[in-house]
Amino acid sequence: DRLPELLRRMPKAELHIHIEGSLEPELIFALAPRNGVKIPYASVEDLRRAYAFTNLQSFLDIYYAGASVLLKEQDFYDMARAYLLKAAQDNVVHAELFFDPQTHTARGVSMETVIHGLHRACADAQAELGISASLILCFLRHLSEEDAFETLEQALPYRDKFIGVGLDSSEVGNPPEKFARVFARCRELGLHRVAHAGEEGPPAYVWTALDLLKVERIDHGVQSGRDAALMQRLAADRIPLTVCPLSNLKLCVFPDLASHNLRQLLDAGLVATVNSDDPAYFGGYMNENFTQTFAATGLSSQHAYTLARNSFAASFIDAATRQRLI
Ligand code: HPA
Ligand code: ZN
Repeated sequence: DRLPELLRRMPKAELHIHIEGSLEPELIFALAPRNGVKIPYASVEDLRRAYAFTNLQSFLDIYYAGASVLLKEQDFYDMARAYLLKAAQDNVVHAELFFDPQTHTARGVSMETVIHGLHRACADAQAELGISASLILCFLRHLSEEDAFETLEQALPYRDKFIGVGLDSSEVGNPPEKFARVFARCRELGLHRVAHAGEEGPPAYVWTALDLLKVERIDHGVQSGRDAALMQRLAADRIPLTVCPLSNLKLCVFPDLASHNLRQLLDAGLVATVNSDDPAYFGGYMNENFTQTFAATGLSSQHAYTLARNSFAASFIDAATRQRLI
């Protein structure tokens, strides 16, 4: 069976990776003493044992705790560098990296420190690894819209170093409409817009992300499978979904990979893509997501080709280059 080799070798884009979710336990344990940060785990193994999640919130609690070791520009650089090396090994040729500035500015880390460290890693990866990488600033939806506006204000001096905005963190109870005004402002500023919707939350959140936030892609969106009219809308408007199978498995969105609805989404003509979300926490980077999902759901080489093509079609690479890639 040569399908796993095809999956590993095919060029692909990753569009749903939280860079703080690529922070491996080994790097957490290297950064903690470097920065004088105490972590309540005895060892790498002890920390990894805590990665047993039951839902999104159980993951977010430990994900935000892990990010507390990041203080200096070099820390952000080292984290993004490690991810981009892994991505290049998986034949990812283009990556759009989410980052959560509020997780860091709330601890007294400056916006400049965060963005400069991440951006330098992206620039070096282009020069040294031949992988293109850009940044998408995510607002934490459990915080207020006012806090999001303030974060946008703090980031605008670095407007040339990120291409768009996203919306992540605790979904249920924090619907897209909470951020309608800040997304409208981002649209005026010419920023790309994406939002997590329909990961654990209802199809209604996907509708409002589209109609009120005017997002160009939906992150996750797997709950759309429960709403036939929404499926038709997503197909007709070619709205990409950045699906993350191992994440959905580890956060118990589906009981097992064989039950994942990626195939249903693709066969309905949606522009679905495969992504890793938080690979350090969910046990797999891009190629693991591809090989494990294909093995469990019986997707074909034709699906592989479609997913690779979708990843470029859904990307924010400039239009001329994108057209050449798809
Ligand atoms: N969902 C919401 N917020 C997140 C996620 C996710 O999968 N990963 C990191 N922040
Ligand atoms: Zn995500």
